[in-house]
Amino acid sequence: MNAMTEGWLKIGRLHDVPRQGARVVRTAAGAIAVFRTHDDQVYALEDRCPHKGGPLSQGIVHGHRVACPLHDWRIDLESGQAVAPDVGCVARYPVRIIDGELWLQLNGAMLGGPTPAQGCRHD
Ligand code: FES
Repeated sequence: MNAMTEGWLKIGRLHDVPRQGARVVRTAAGAIAVFRTHDDQVYALEDRCPHKGGPLSQGIVHGHRVACPLHDWRIDLESGQAVAPDVGCVARYPVRIIDGELWLQLNGAMLGGPTPAQGCRHD
């Protein structure tokens, strides 16, 4: 894969993201938080809590969830859904690890096109 092919953008190396932390990638579609779990899984979510817009990238990762730093809503990193009793969801983006490098799929978001956000719409 090249630096940007088929909408995939190389955003750095896995080790650039701290375990149980996140790194923010700024795109034309807005800020995207790339999370790394304790077991080196990576997830990419819109960096905006579905409650009141808190920066999820500044939250604490527990297992495969992140706790929003503002009011402690928990967001499931895999589904983008708020954990009950809270209700809401955040856009997800495909992210891959290839040879230790992180690739984020934006499907034209960098060009101002539609985003590939999965599983959550802000209608
Ligand atoms: S803004 Fe995230 S819990 Fe309120």
